[in-house]
Amino acid sequence: MQIVNSEISIQKTSSSRLKQQDINNIPFGKVFSDHMLVATYADDSWQEVKIVPYGNIVMSPSMSALHYGQAVFEGLKAYINPEGKPLLFRPQANYKRINESAFRLCMPSIPEEIFMDGLKELIRLDADWIPTQSDSVLYIRPIYFATDESVGLKPAKSYKFIIITCPVGAYYSEPVKLIVTDKYVRACEGGTGAAKCAGNYAGSLLADKEAKQQGYDNVLWLDGKEKKYIEECGTMNVAFVINDVVITPKLTGTILPGITRDSVLTLFRDMGVKVEERLISIDEVAKAYKVGNLSEAFGMGTAATIAHISTINYQGEDMILPPVNERKYASQVLQKLEDIKTGKVTEPYGWVCQL
Ligand code: COI
Repeated sequence: MQIVNSEISIQKTSSSRLKQQDINNIPFGKVFSDHMLVATYADDSWQEVKIVPYGNIVMSPSMSALHYGQAVFEGLKAYINPEGKPLLFRPQANYKRINESAFRLCMPSIPEEIFMDGLKELIRLDADWIPTQSDSVLYIRPIYFATDESVGLKPAKSYKFIIITCPVGAYYSEPVKLIVTDKYVRACEGGTGAAKCAGNYAGSLLADKEAKQQGYDNVLWLDGKEKKYIEECGTMNVAFVINDVVITPKLTGTILPGITRDSVLTLFRDMGVKVEERLISIDEVAKAYKVGNLSEAFGMGTAATIAHISTINYQGEDMILPPVNERKYASQVLQKLEDIKTGKVTEPYGWVCQL
């Protein structure tokens, strides 16, 4: 056991699984790298922080996260720059967001040293797991959940914060087909829609399953009140290009404040593209489609990166969008973003974190 600083102890694996994997060729989220970070909160304070070999964790069947869903998570990625050094993209933004999600679920905040130093130490240790081929990357999944052994409903007193990582290929290998639902809603005003909490994803699964049964990849969610305004897609935020303006639903508290969303909007603005963050109704999109003014639709997310949307089904009709090779906005911004994330170009935003 090595103690790297007074906070984090490291126990390295004696049998790395890396050689058994083709890390440039792995489906999303199936294979995990050698180590994980585990931090424990109990007795009103953060206690042990350790990096240990990836493996199962012991839990009680009465563990409160299993019953009442006090569980939040994050997603971010590590890249290798042209000099072979590992990079993280906007980890501070994930740090901020996990604590906002935690606040919403009545969980104590995670100290910056635990999240940031733990994350950096873990990625340095498993840097050889970062794929080098384009389209593959090391996906990082911080998770934070309640561990009280109790079925009484109240904010827990004990928690685990864990970071696991996995080399992944593209989340969507093809342009995405969406179907608008007004049967289910993802979030309502005052709910947890803006938090990255496990329950939001669980609540989307039935709609998603029905979408897949109808031949679509995902649901395009509408607001929970009027079922009129576009929200997000569950796996990613969305944007539409209408008359050369990039329009994306504004952050009303019911959609995830995506870090990729924010990066894309920043890049577009700096490229001189007109961007609007506002309410956008599905009828506005359908109208623009009908008169030929809807040139692109795309999703933005950490796992999905920028995913072209090929089809949107609304009230039984498919809107078939122009072919990807005719789309200039999403493709351009995707290239710019990938160049920044992989350290191929310098950036003025302070997004890239060298390890
Ligand atoms: C991410 O994009 O990082 C997410 O957490 C979305 C998830 C559905 C993979």
